[in-house]
Amino acid sequence: MDNDLIICAARGEKTERSPVWVMRQAGRILPEYRAIRSSISGFKELVETPDLAAEVTVQPVDILGTDSAIIFSDILVIPEAMGLPYEMKEGIGPRFPEVVQSDSDIDRLNVAEGGELKYVYDAIAETKRRLAGRVPVIGFAGAPFTIFCYMIEGKGSKTFSEARKWLHSNPIGSHKLLEKITQSTINYLKLQVEAGVSLYQVFDSWAGVLSKPLYEEFCMPYLNRISEEVNSVPNIVFAKGAHFSTQDLMESSYNAVGLDWTMNPVEVRKFSNTKTLQGNLDPTVLYGDDALVVQKTKEMLTSFKGGAHIANLGHGVYPDTDWKKVKLFIDTIKSSQN
Ligand code: CP3
Repeated sequence: MDNDLIICAARGEKTERSPVWVMRQAGRILPEYRAIRSSISGFKELVETPDLAAEVTVQPVDILGTDSAIIFSDILVIPEAMGLPYEMKEGIGPRFPEVVQSDSDIDRLNVAEGGELKYVYDAIAETKRRLAGRVPVIGFAGAPFTIFCYMIEGKGSKTFSEARKWLHSNPIGSHKLLEKITQSTINYLKLQVEAGVSLYQVFDSWAGVLSKPLYEEFCMPYLNRISEEVNSVPNIVFAKGAHFSTQDLMESSYNAVGLDWTMNPVEVRKFSNTKTLQGNLDPTVLYGDDALVVQKTKEMLTSFKGGAHIANLGHGVYPDTDWKKVKLFIDTIKSSQN
């Protein structure tokens, strides 16, 4: 691999500078992505066509100069492989025509064996071929609780109160569903590794709607199982908003812990300085002028001193961000020394 900075940093090694990638780097910020997207029927066609998925996966490496590519797909392919298909509504977001409403619905779901998602592994293999060793490919999956939220509610939500109701009104059924999602995710990530990903991230995007006791009971055991069973490459856990569980995450079996922009790396390092940290520039900083972007990026780098660091935003880049600001963020990191 020509540039394996991100793998070294994920393993906790000291690197000459922080490697950088951006959550949602492949997507609407790039005119080249929008051109491909408008030439086809929809988001799912892009995800399910390995040649096209590989093309948009490589775009941010070529255009923005990121230190890794993240495979273009979605966390919602797992519910689909389990028997609950998703739709991506233009300008609205994901929708599930059917949701889980009862224990018998859970019984009817499959544990995905992974083979259902062949298009993802083909896209990974094609991406590797196109990158020819320039940078590593990152695989990913949703965390069991975040997937659970979509399977219960069928769409996004500010509070995910229906999913939270389940945790209290049917804890046994909730564990049963989380169990099935976890096993499906393990099978899926193992095949991503086999297809060639060098690192993977687990996205717990809706962690922040829970509390410490709920996170301990319904999330940490499943997150740790994934990490323990898919352990042949380094991994990152990103639990957005999970301030209450910082210690558990820092003691988890993941190599790296992703921080959102509300979290303070100096405070988090106090739990452990052997864990790699990832993050965490507020994505809205990229709407400031160039001088502000450079200043805030440098401040962010300083705040992570004292241990291994993978630079990123604190959550996905917003689609109306000027891609040149994203490039400035990346260039600023690449020209800074540790
Ligand atoms: O560049 C990358 O990060 C890789 C591709 C990627 C996508 N989704 C493509 C996508 C990744 C890693 C995801 C993960 C994902 N998907 C998450 C976890 C990350 C996070 O943001 O917290 C979640 C919660 C989803 C579910 C999802 N997919 C939502 C809520 C939406 C709609 C919101 C939106 O931005 O429109 C999607 C659609 C989606 N997934 C798009 C992309 C590029 C936009 C759709 C399009 O281009 O038409």
